[in-house]
Amino acid sequence: MRRLALIGFSGSGKTTLAGMAGGFGLKSADSDAELERLSGRTIAEMLGSGDEDSFRKLESEVICGLLTQDFSFLAFGGGVHAAHPVWNEILRSSVKILYLRGSFDELLARAGDRPLFRQLGVERYRDLYEKRLPLYERAANFTIDVSHRTLDEIWSEIDTLWRCISK
Ligand code: S3P
Repeated sequence: MRRLALIGFSGSGKTTLAGMAGGFGLKSADSDAELERLSGRTIAEMLGSGDEDSFRKLESEVICGLLTQDFSFLAFGGGVHAAHPVWNEILRSSVKILYLRGSFDELLARAGDRPLFRQLGVERYRDLYEKRLPLYERAANFTIDVSHRTLDEIWSEIDTLWRCISK
């Protein structure tokens, strides 16, 4: 059974698109939601307490757990590859990685209320975005542009990809 992991910066649509996959009967999961469920805390609470190391440790455990289950679509928090580049190796051996690429301004417009943005402010958030782009590019088996496109257009492209790789 093939699996597709969705990666990319906050606001690229990972969670929404994995949810759409779920709506089409494909089993999907979201690492942020799973992390909140298991810890009983929100991401904002975890990052807000300033202990990003503990957050990243838990995030890694959650992803290891998800990989042992039979999900077809996995949405990963935007910091996974940046925090632990070893994920590139682990994930490549068990899933196909789809990078949802978008422009900073568009992603910011969609995700400007997220905990990390509130914590960093616009300039440091932009730096983070720029630092991460090559990491996503390096990790990806496939890339889809999400800027200036509707969710239905993006989903249609993912669906084509999925039908091909899941055979
Ligand atoms: C993070 C992205 C968030 C969430 C956490 C950290 C990051 O997920 O995991 O706030 O480091 O980029 P989304 O990419 O779903 O917003």
